[in-house]
Amino acid sequence: MKIRILGSAAGGGFPQWNCNCVNCDGVRKGTIDAVPRTQSSIAVSENDTDWLLINASPDILAQIRANPALQPARAIRDSGIAAVLLMDAQIDHVTGLLMLRERGSPLPLYATEQVLADLAQALPITRVLGHYCGVDARPLALDGAALAIPPLAATTILPVPLLSKAPPYSPHRDDPHPGDNIGLTIRNGASGKRLFYAPGLGEITPAVEEAMRGADVLLVDGTCWSDDEMLTMGLSKKTARMMGHLAQSGPGGMIELLDRMPASRKILIHINNSNPILREDAPQRAVLAAHGIEVALDGMDIEL
Ligand code: MLT
Ligand code: MN
Ligand code: ZN
Repeated sequence: MKIRILGSAAGGGFPQWNCNCVNCDGVRKGTIDAVPRTQSSIAVSENDTDWLLINASPDILAQIRANPALQPARAIRDSGIAAVLLMDAQIDHVTGLLMLRERGSPLPLYATEQVLADLAQALPITRVLGHYCGVDARPLALDGAALAIPPLAATTILPVPLLSKAPPYSPHRDDPHPGDNIGLTIRNGASGKRLFYAPGLGEITPAVEEAMRGADVLLVDGTCWSDDEMLTMGLSKKTARMMGHLAQSGPGGMIELLDRMPASRKILIHINNSNPILREDAPQRAVLAAHGIEVALDGMDIEL
């Protein structure tokens, strides 16, 4: 089973359209050792033809073009994207759904009741899509049961509730509900291997710690190097924590957490454009390497 990283950047992408931080300006001008990245999304397939898309990024059309495996062209109108699963209702994870409106049949859409409610009301994407292909909404229960989600047959997916943040437009923004954000344990039934995926990880609950401990591969929140980096760079008034993200450095940070984990691969994803780890030659990259931590790239494949 294969996991293809379609987009490895956080919301805004890298470079972000209006940002002139050292990373964004440098990658635009080609003066730093870094590559552009599109916004957060992965796809899972057992046969390289039929894919479960996990999160629908605003960059989805570019991602489909960059990944011909998602376009098997079996009919005059056709896509390898058989279904979509959403992990939260954030703009960088859901607005790509609008770009799939030309489908010939309702889009199978897996998400928690909270996320489906936000997408029916606060950011009414599913209502809008009702005027195009329509959505076949499949609520994800958080009852601890692993799911078989077509087109995947030998793979199971276990949603893990996360303590993070609902989007700013959600009625749950400051009133967290289980289901506002989920992580996923993706298990290959043939090899028994597990990957834990959580592009947004605000707090490490016992359930998250357990899911991470049981994973062979960790693909987790790499948004910010330091909690206050967007503040100190003058990019935002919010800390990583305020946005529901655990920074990598410092006491209680992601590096410390990953050090405790037995996984054979530890990969950071959802990298914000402010993060120094985007520069291949940054000292922070050497720190990650010393801890056996990789940084995701668009187009990267993980075989599980
Ligand atoms: C987040 O995860 O906090 C997002 O990337 C925010 C956004 O999409 O603007
Ligand atoms: Mn995000
Ligand atoms: Zn920037």
